[in-house]
Amino acid sequence: MSAWASKPPEELAAWRQLAKLAEQGVGDANELGHPSRFQQFSQRLGPLLVDYSKQRINDTVSDALVELARQSGLAEAIADLFAGSPVNNTEGRPALHMELRRPANECRPEVGETRERFLRLAESIRNGQHLGAGGKPISTVVHIGIGGSHLGPELATQALGTFGQAPEIRFLANIDGDSASSALAGLDPTTTLICIASKSFSTLEAEVNAKTAKSWFLERGGDISTIGKHFVAITSNPDAAQQFGVPAQSCFPVWDWVGGRFSLWSAVGLPVAIALGRNAFEEMLAGAYAVDTHFRTASLSENLPVLLALLQVWNTNFLGAATHAVLPYDRRLRCLPDYLQQLEMESNGKSVRRDGARAATHTVPVVWGGEETNGQHAFHQLLHQGSRAYSADFIACAKPGHALEGHHEWLLANCLAQSKAMMQGFNAEDAHRNVTGNHASTTILLDELSPHSLGALLALYEHKVFCAGAIWQINPFDQFGVELGKALAKPIFNELGGEPPARQQDFSTRGLVETIRRWRQ
Ligand code: F6P
Repeated sequence: MSAWASKPPEELAAWRQLAKLAEQGVGDANELGHPSRFQQFSQRLGPLLVDYSKQRINDTVSDALVELARQSGLAEAIADLFAGSPVNNTEGRPALHMELRRPANECRPEVGETRERFLRLAESIRNGQHLGAGGKPISTVVHIGIGGSHLGPELATQALGTFGQAPEIRFLANIDGDSASSALAGLDPTTTLICIASKSFSTLEAEVNAKTAKSWFLERGGDISTIGKHFVAITSNPDAAQQFGVPAQSCFPVWDWVGGRFSLWSAVGLPVAIALGRNAFEEMLAGAYAVDTHFRTASLSENLPVLLALLQVWNTNFLGAATHAVLPYDRRLRCLPDYLQQLEMESNGKSVRRDGARAATHTVPVVWGGEETNGQHAFHQLLHQGSRAYSADFIACAKPGHALEGHHEWLLANCLAQSKAMMQGFNAEDAHRNVTGNHASTTILLDELSPHSLGALLALYEHKVFCAGAIWQINPFDQFGVELGKALAKPIFNELGGEPPARQQDFSTRGLVETIRRWRQ
């Protein structure tokens, strides 16, 4: 399976029409005043309201975009995704993360059994029945993992906090020893559970941090025979996990049809289940499952992940947006920009199409962002008066997660004001005060931040990423680009340790290695 369209994207009639519309300036801000825009260009999906009426589109653009979806073969792509066809064509695998959120009576038996096992473990840790080697309950969980084995669990745990009594959850991702030191600081090995989440069980960061955690455990009186009470592994490489010392009964599988950045819903989400409990975790799955159902069944013109992908293509390929800002107006969602950076850029940050030909179009823009309203006092100056085109997603929750008076109204007022300013700008006589406006944004409003709405939000983005990849005709499910740096680090590591520089080592690396070695003597 290479592409679902009959031609490269830029040769499709709809693509050409969109190029013409963009050239004619269709969709500029002065067209945005129509009173019915909000009704026309917003859509409710369960706990989410997606308002894309501030996008630079009109009826003609909107129709042409939906036609692009049709000519890109998105309906077939979606059907193939759900049918378990090898949509990850470079690795010959399906991408079936949706299987992980199916209800127990509908999912694959191995998914249901594993879910049951890790939810039972989570509950027994929460209620103090899972006892450590010294007979004491677990008070802290340290989750080791990086990228897809870290960002989703951390986002969900931070977003949803702890429901009821739960141990403290710490995350250890970075290879910087400072992270390991602070993640383990002050902990008692007899009341600590270390979760090692690594699909491959060979990622450098996870490997080094897991070894450090094991030494920490053993050096503080932990016994190798009790390691199964204090270490669990979540991996598709159980042999490596067992060789490391985690017994089989403490290993949870991740299947090769689950991409790392789509794995929150698997046992990789164990820390989330420990923090929230079974019911809330299942609610998160249910929220995502509802979006799966919408994505699988809605027509292209009413399919929200499809529409969000089309808007990304419109902004990126036709309106010149090179970056996309993710602006959560809710502190609990402060990890969302990081999570979406991996989801969007590791998936669609590619320039070779599914058929191996070089892409003639741009693909995903640089995704960035930060917690609001902090960003308003930092980078919003550029958003309002900078020289480059961009697009933005505003994410906010109608109800607050606290009872403090006034704060939430101000937070929401700022959220709405910023997207309004980006759209309308301000015509000032003094050029220095002029705000051009005409910047496209989408606002995603959650009724409240709950396991259900978070699950829905993340599934919405997952499917958007798949659709954008299908339009650009690239495979969002591999990530070969990250391999080169990993391979280059090995000889440099040895050189830093004293080995003579490799003959082919470049002058800058050689000079830096020599300097580091000298300065460390
Ligand atoms: O950065 C590459 C990558 O493979 C990501 O895709 C993945 O989420 C991360 O590393 C961690 O991989 P693993 O779960 O195999 O340790």
